[in-house]
Amino acid sequence: MKFFLDTASLEEISEAVSWGAVAGVTTNPTLYARVGGKLQDFEQHIKKICALVKGPVSAEVTAPDTAGMLAEGRALASLADNVAVKVPLTLDGLAATRALANEGIEVNMTLVFSVPQAILAARAGARYVSPFVGRFDDIAEDGIEQLSNIVMALGNYDFAEDGPRGTSGPHGRGVEVIAASIRNPNHVTQAALVGADIATVPFGVLKKCAVHPLTTNGLAAFEADWEKVKQA
Ligand code: G3P
Repeated sequence: MKFFLDTASLEEISEAVSWGAVAGVTTNPTLYARVGGKLQDFEQHIKKICALVKGPVSAEVTAPDTAGMLAEGRALASLADNVAVKVPLTLDGLAATRALANEGIEVNMTLVFSVPQAILAARAGARYVSPFVGRFDDIAEDGIEQLSNIVMALGNYDFAEDGPRGTSGPHGRGVEVIAASIRNPNHVTQAALVGADIATVPFGVLKKCAVHPLTTNGLAAFEADWEKVKQA
């Protein structure tokens, strides 16, 4: 499973890239607002993120209709080679995805909550499909079970011909599943166990993933014993 970082913070991205695990970045309007982003700076901000990471950077359209999504999507895709246009799973979003994929533009379909939605996204040519795990948990449903269903269902088929320029993804599917709305390290564990291709993880959660009390305790013991060695 690859890690994407779910943030619009340049500082967080720079630091996490130095850890070696960040294969891409996902942003959304909420994450951009959280870093105090202004409308007029949005495109420059996306360019800066694209320069920090080698992998895909998801930048989301905000128009509600296909024509608006298409115009925004083309503009976003022109900002850098590694932009993936993020499009919500609506009927307008599916039409925009099909048109963008036909132009060879990678699309990440977001706000995906069901197997039928995921299959529609893949057939519309989305390169990435993003089921939201935590938001299911928020309404007392099992987000990992929904994610698992989507991974299994998409794994039954080959969507390569549907994707931009016939893109072939892992397992020959032509589409990758991004476990999104990840809230804790256990979500990361479960996403990996059910075979999600990618987990997009907030900075704080990625940091927690590196921490284990036995690692901390073990290191403290090594340090104490090394002091004894130095004084022997
Ligand atoms: O990429 C968007 C998604 O990860 C949102 O997460 O925590 O707002 O449900 P959250």
